[in-house]
Parts: sequence; structure tokens; C-alpha cells
Amino acid sequence: MQHQRILVLDFGGQYNQLIARRVRDLNVYCDLKPYDMSVEAIKEYAPIGIIFTGGPNSVYDENSPRVSPEIFKLGIPVLGICYGAQLIAHTLGGKVVRAKQSEYGKREFSLTKSSPLLADIPQKSICWMSHTDLISELPAGFDVLAVTESCPVTVFGNGEKGVFGVQFHPEVVHTQYGNKLLENFLYRICGANGDWTMSGFVSEQVEKLKAKLGGKKVLCALSGGVDSAVAATLVHRAVGKDLICVFVDHGLHRKNEPEEVVSVFRDRLGMNLIKADAADLFLERLKGVTDPERKRKIIGEEFIRVFEREAKKIGAVDFLVQGTIYPDVIESGKGKSAVIKSHHNVGGLPSVIDFKEIVEPLRDLFKDEVRKVGTELGLEDGIVWRQPCPGPALAIRIMGEVTAEKLGTLRDADAIFREEIARAGLEREIWQYFAVITDSKTVGVQGDFRTYENVIALRAVTSVDAMTADWARIPYDVLERVSNRITNEVKHANRVVFDITSKPPATIEWE
Ligand code: XMP
Repeated sequence: MQHQRILVLDFGGQYNQLIARRVRDLNVYCDLKPYDMSVEAIKEYAPIGIIFTGGPNSVYDENSPRVSPEIFKLGIPVLGICYGAQLIAHTLGGKVVRAKQSEYGKREFSLTKSSPLLADIPQKSICWMSHTDLISELPAGFDVLAVTESCPVTVFGNGEKGVFGVQFHPEVVHTQYGNKLLENFLYRICGANGDWTMSGFVSEQVEKLKAKLGGKKVLCALSGGVDSAVAATLVHRAVGKDLICVFVDHGLHRKNEPEEVVSVFRDRLGMNLIKADAADLFLERLKGVTDPERKRKIIGEEFIRVFEREAKKIGAVDFLVQGTIYPDVIESGKGKSAVIKSHHNVGGLPSVIDFKEIVEPLRDLFKDEVRKVGTELGLEDGIVWRQPCPGPALAIRIMGEVTAEKLGTLRDADAIFREEIARAGLEREIWQYFAVITDSKTVGVQGDFRTYENVIALRAVTSVDAMTADWARIPYDVLERVSNRITNEVKHANRVVFDITSKPPATIEWE
């Protein structure tokens, strides 16, 4: 079934993926594509509406990204946001100028004319602005629909043509009725029918996967992370025992993780799961290694070797499942080197396995959609809401040499931190939170004894994409409980510190 779809043309703004996620959240499928998509390609794509995103440029600069005026002759509704709005005005004969003062942050805007785009939005409400240029003259046939004190054209449109522009960002949560505005555009202007739902996705995908993979052998590397877990569960629904999952236990996982993988996927879901026990092997290979990049390299290579050994036992397979998701696809589509993601995926897996084709059942989904699919498939919250964990796992959270003793200390400290964050109900607000075992020892007194033990650092950050991050403002009483519990319950730890550095200049991980 072909879903109705919205085309989001990307002009390089920081909130662009967020716009696409909001549209999907309103049950309309959409794709984020480069702004220079040809009019022919747009026609072929056949969207029910087009959204121009924001972007860092000024429309009057010579080399700024533009669109062909032909787009407006297709009879497809268009919504321009920020730069996108200015581009509509500029392209159709209006005027955009540099404002006397840039406008950032929350502003009150008032409606000046009624329009289906602004239906059910109060006369005055708050929007989120971030612009230096403004529209000073509208093209013929367009009306001002809303203003702020300093922005004379905050919302404008031509109802007949279905072309609208908004200077603010409806996609960010600070715009009180931003979601309503997007919903109005989709449902009142583009005629959306809301046919994009995750339960629909699951049943369609299962049918598709059955048709494609039925009766064939399928292999999947389960890492314990959300994406591979959901991908495997979806494929398992379609092909059952023909799916073989391999989980490499490298002994560097967080507390109870390997046990959880086995209990969920093998015991509860009945999957064909092979657990390769390689903890001793990895520890042996990491002996004496202190350089972070060498640790990564050794773990990556050893992982492939273990996986290859297991795959050889299985023999040739027809398909290899990968948990690629939509942001990976967008990033590689832009021709940018996907710096962050390249080390997320288990490098080099496909080249060592004998298979015919890769299946990527989640390649159209954003992370929040992957989570919804996971829930739809009956996976527990502990798996669906798991925070991202780096491939080398605890090895890069142990400063210096990785030893069994340090692993034990870190695992216990990290588990306490996670438990307390969960107990405080902060799990979903914090992007990543974990403990690090530093390579410093300090003096302490525990009971009547002088101790000389490890310093544990707590790291917790908020972020949207891991490219930048801020340290999470965890309440003091939560930190206090974590610190008390770690120094009381964990062997070889007598001091706890909290990392208050953003990224940049630091990174999220310590190594
Ligand atoms: P940094 O530390 O670079 O981390 O700010 C950004 C994000 O990437 C994760 N990360 C890794 N993921 N293999 C991975 O699969 C790695 O070697 C690795 N190093 C960092 C990190 O957890 C954060 O989400």
C-alpha cells in the first residue's frame, strides 16, 4: 500500500529532522530530501504537500539555496518555515530584508486574519523565533495572517493556492500551538487521512518480510541495542525459526545485559539465539592495553572474528538483517561522512559473512518510531527505552587497562546510577547516563579504616543527536543517593564525582 506522503525539502536548518518527526507523529508519512530535488522528481514522488525547512542562509545572497518557481504551479500545497517562508516570498516576487535586530526565543504573536492554517489557535499565543531576516513585502495574492511586535509578517498565505509561510518554528516545543499549526496544514490544507501508524507499519512489514524472506535462512547480529532488537523481533514475526540471531557476549556489557538478552529473545520470544561466550578471550586480548583507540580496534576486530566463527557454523545464509534507521539513511544521502554513526555500526560485518542480500526493515523509521514499533511488538520498556551504548561498551568507560576487577566495580556502580535515575523517573529525559571508573585512586575512610580506592565519575548528558550535549541537571538528592550507595555497596570505590562538562569541548564518553 502506498501511503500519502509529505515532502520535506531540506535547506540545512538545525530542526529539519524534527519537522519530519512531527509530521510522522501526526500520522502522515514524510521524507526529508535535499532542497535541489528537481520538479520532475517531485512530480513523480507525488506528495500531498511540501514543507520547506529553515536554513542558515539569506535569500538575497547570490549563492543561497533556491527552488524553481515551477514548484508553485504543481497545485500541491506548500508550507515554508523560517528560511523556507522567506524563500516563498522572495521566489514569488515579495521582498526580504535584514531586520534591524535579530529575534531569538519566545515571542507573542497575534492573529490578524482567519485561515484554516490557524484554526483552533487562540488570538494570542507564544512562538519560537530564530531569525535575522524578515519579509517586508508580500507577493501579490498573499495576506498577512499573524504578526508579532517586531515582525510584520509572522504568518502569511494564499488560501486559494494553499501556499503558506511561518517565520517562527512550529516544530519546536516552545511554540505553544506549533503542533496544531502543522496538523492544520496536513489535515485542513493537504487533505491528509492519517494513514501512517506504527501498528499499520508492523502488519505491512510483516507481510512484506514474509513474502520476501519466507522459507529462506536469515541471520542477525543482536547487539542488545534498540535498533537491532526491534529489527530482529520484526523479522522473527515474519519468518520465525528461519531467523538465527547471534549475540556476542564480549564480557564488556552492562550489568545483567547478556542475561536479559537471553531471557527476552530466547526464553520469552522463542527466537533461535546463539550466545557466543567470549568474555575471557576479550579480556585476554585487552591485557595491558591502555590506549582508547587501540581498545576500540581490538574489540571491533575480535567481535568480527567471533561472529565469523559462529556464522561459519551456520553456513551460507540468504539474508543478513541490519538495524539501519532513517537518520543513517539521511546522513549518508547527504554525502557527509556519517562521523558519529560510523562507529555505531559493527564495522565490516557484511564482508565476512556469506549471504546474498541485506534486509533493513527499519530504514524508513526515526528512532522514536523504532521505539513505538518495539512496544507494538511487545518488547519490554527496558529494551525499547535503552540508552545508546557504544560498541566497545564498558571498555571505554574504564580508564587505563581493562581488568576483571575494574569491570566488576564499574558494572556495580553503573547499575546503581541507572537504578536511581529510573527511580527518580528521569530515564527518558536524559540522553545517556553512566558511570566511569577513572584511573585515579584516592584516600578515604570507610568504617574505621583508611582506604585507597578508585574514583568513580558519573556522566549524564542531554542531547538530540550526540553531536553536541549538555550535562544533565540531576537533582542533588538523586546524586546524593547514588554517591552514598556506590561508596557503601560497591567494592573498590571510595569517592564519587560528577562530570559537569558539555560537548564540546568534552565528548560524551571519557575515551
Ligand atoms: P562521544 O563520546 O564521541 O560520543 O561524544 C558520541 C556518541 O557516540 C557513542 N560512541 C560510540 N558508539 N562505538 C559506538 O558504537 C564507539 O566506539 C563509540 N564511541 C562513542 C557515545 O556513546 C555517544 O552516544
